[in-house]
Amino acid sequence: MENQRSHRLVLIPPPFQGHITPMLHLATILYSRGFSITLAHPHFNSPDPSNHPNFTFLPFFDGLAGTHISSNNLSNIVITLNATCASPLKELLVGELMKAKVKNEKIACIIYDSSMYFADSVARELKLPTILFQTTSASNLLTYHAFAPLHSKGYLPLRGSGSLDLVPGLDPLRFKDLSVFNLANLDALLQTNAKMLAVTPSLGIICNTVDFLEQPFLDQLRQLYQPSIVNFFAIGPLHMIAEESCSRSSSLLEEDYSCISWLNNQPKKSVLYVSLGSIASWEEKELSEVACGLANSMQRFLWVIRPGTINDVSEWEKSLPEEVKIAIAERGCIVKWVPQGKVLAHKAIGGFWSHCGWNSTLESLCEGVPIMCQPNFGDQRVNARLLSHVWRVGLEWSNIIEKGEIEGAIRRLMVSPEGKEMRQSALKLKQELRVAAIGGSSYDALNRMINNVLSANL
Ligand code: UDX
Repeated sequence: MENQRSHRLVLIPPPFQGHITPMLHLATILYSRGFSITLAHPHFNSPDPSNHPNFTFLPFFDGLAGTHISSNNLSNIVITLNATCASPLKELLVGELMKAKVKNEKIACIIYDSSMYFADSVARELKLPTILFQTTSASNLLTYHAFAPLHSKGYLPLRGSGSLDLVPGLDPLRFKDLSVFNLANLDALLQTNAKMLAVTPSLGIICNTVDFLEQPFLDQLRQLYQPSIVNFFAIGPLHMIAEESCSRSSSLLEEDYSCISWLNNQPKKSVLYVSLGSIASWEEKELSEVACGLANSMQRFLWVIRPGTINDVSEWEKSLPEEVKIAIAERGCIVKWVPQGKVLAHKAIGGFWSHCGWNSTLESLCEGVPIMCQPNFGDQRVNARLLSHVWRVGLEWSNIIEKGEIEGAIRRLMVSPEGKEMRQSALKLKQELRVAAIGGSSYDALNRMINNVLSANL
């Protein structure tokens, strides 16, 4: 293969863990294929450059200092980023173009996250090729295209009744699976959505998915994009492909490795891993129900309670009923943040109670771990529906945060014949995903994408 180090790719992630991680995986893969890599990123929630010594990290002004990320203000953060960052990014890219000239390099492509859509016009002004990077699933992206038509046909806003009806054209998704369901600020979302979908990246779209996982949705998307965006590359699971080229940590929080020693002492497939990712969380009252449900299920558990979820975890633990404290001491491990990839790959893990973020979903599928689905916001309900209804590796339960409901759902996942079946389906999917990632459809799509970038720079 021709040495492409003189071709530099500039990747632009938003300041969210669930988006930074897959973009760094993509960067790792493209570096291993010979490109030079720059990460141009907002100052806020910066990734740690020391974990990626081969990449150049360039922060730009974002107007987000002091912001606290929660599911309620994500749309506002995206609006702020798109309103604030165009000039800082342009200035940064002009500087990079000058440096590239001196070093005899070329900025071969700007790869921006779909939520950083302002980057498309900045790149266009500078006559640089662009690729949009879609962090979430293809199915979820397709739902974004459906919102405006559903709204104009009077289906939205929809609350309560009809929530179980199938969405026309999006079978098997139900109205309650859409991110717009029960949303307070529907208008804001529709506006952002329209802007996000209006961009036409010159070299196409990369989606962190796999053809066979989402085939009917991908077919619809490709048809939809055909007139304007010709290339839709399903290249995933990125973390699995990146692993082959020695991926490093992309965590914004410190990973606690003591949980791995704890897992080493647990029987095979006996532990339920519990985590809601980097944004969703339980309220303090719910945490106690979760603790009781976990204790009463009699299963072992590794539970991530992120910093900031609760003021003082040890004080809270002291307030729990005595038998729950004993269960935590005997069968539980509570930590602030784990190396999730290593946890899911551990032989002691038998199930994952997850919020169904797309990264957690893919990471679990790749390790053959079935999921107890507790979707919270955004794309998570779509992912949960795919997990439970399409791939049959996810448990749909009442989602009522009450100890009895929780205990029942955990038992169904960990020790019932239903859970066993899901575990078997998950193991089968794991093998199929490896084939796609290492030499199959994702590998082919990656090669096509790289050829496209090189051809655009001849
Ligand atoms: C966000 C959205 O909420 C999600 O719906 C969307 O699909 C992607 O962006 P987040 O909520 O953080 O992401 O969930 P997820 O996509 O699962 O990403 C979380 C990442 O954090 C995963 O890569 C996971 O491995 C990592 N993680 C989580 C850790 O490394 N340690 C932990 O303790 C918990």
